[in-house]
Amino acid sequence: MKHVFTGTVLASALLLCAGTASATVKIGFMLPYSGTYAKLGEAIENGFKLYVKEQGGKLAGQDLEYFQVDDESNPAKATDNANRLIQRDKVDILVGTVHSGVAVALAKAADDSDTTLIIPNAGADVITGPLCSKNVFRSSFSNSQPGIAMGMVAAKKGYKTAVTITWNYAAGKESTSGFAQSFEKGGGKVLKNLTLPFPNVEFQPLLTEIASIKPDVVYTFFAGGGAVKFVKDYYAAGLRKTIPLVGAGFLTDGTLQAQGEAAQGLLTTLHYADNLNTPRDNAFRADYTKTYPKIEPDVYAVQGYDAAQILAAGMNAVKGDVSKKAEMRAAMSGATIDSPRGTFKLSKAGNPIQDFYLREVKGDKNVSIGIAVKDLADPARGCKL
Ligand code: PHB
Repeated sequence: MKHVFTGTVLASALLLCAGTASATVKIGFMLPYSGTYAKLGEAIENGFKLYVKEQGGKLAGQDLEYFQVDDESNPAKATDNANRLIQRDKVDILVGTVHSGVAVALAKAADDSDTTLIIPNAGADVITGPLCSKNVFRSSFSNSQPGIAMGMVAAKKGYKTAVTITWNYAAGKESTSGFAQSFEKGGGKVLKNLTLPFPNVEFQPLLTEIASIKPDVVYTFFAGGGAVKFVKDYYAAGLRKTIPLVGAGFLTDGTLQAQGEAAQGLLTTLHYADNLNTPRDNAFRADYTKTYPKIEPDVYAVQGYDAAQILAAGMNAVKGDVSKKAEMRAAMSGATIDSPRGTFKLSKAGNPIQDFYLREVKGDKNVSIGIAVKDLADPARGCKL
């Protein structure tokens, strides 16, 4: 009699489980919490958690449990770090990272273990190119996108010659080649690509070289702590007076308080700006500053917030049961994201199709002064999905 009773209880417990999902969903943040990109990692996590807070602390009725690994923006440690989250912590969902070289290793580890990955920044073109995958999504951009947008702007302004300067790794190389592609299509010529190893900030010899080449314009990709130093050094060298500096918007996002006077008037292109003044963005910005006093939201916070929105679209479709991977991923892939930057959809390769704003630094804001390119999709070259 006792045996039968236990069996019945077990059976009904199983039935209950079939209709709902497991107790908590494990989210693994693999982000830089130290080094030149530390603030970017912090903003991404803030943004993600803000969206979850706005949903009452749960997604699709599920509690979330967070795990963190500091990837130090170090590609050499990336596979081991990814496996800490995948194998040791057994996370359901990976969210990471900022640095393109680290993200490539993370995407491979996610693919090998069939774990869903949302990339809240790193723009490595290969991730939505040859390495594209049904379980990898990006809430950010691909590296060539801001460069393409600025190359068009620079050519239209009538600049004929340019020098590019960046860190010698995927993000810098792809950003500057995106610039070269559209600048040269518009009649310009890139005279020289100057680089230094990531995350070095010994800019002086390269600034001396720029002064002697005297191009019409300089295009740059730097971000985080390195961007702060570059903008200040360019200004201190007196170059702002003779050679206009333009860049991918990371140059001045999340950095303006530290750059101050040296950043005033800089033109950059990015998929976000500080004065969009839409009800959606105003609500996001108000809630962000209320939740994280004294921190201004930036593009990284938006990308973190939208990573959570993409996940929510998937989890809602499976009523919180993240074990239904195919169904969840299909919903993530087809979602329309009501982003603070403006509504977007993902391309087949999993990258946002989005507008790129032309922004000008005014005080402590990146002010949109127009749209440089509308609905820009990344080329997804080599993606077979
Ligand atoms: C990248 O490595 O892909 C990267 C890093 C920082 C940025 C943008 C892109 O701000």
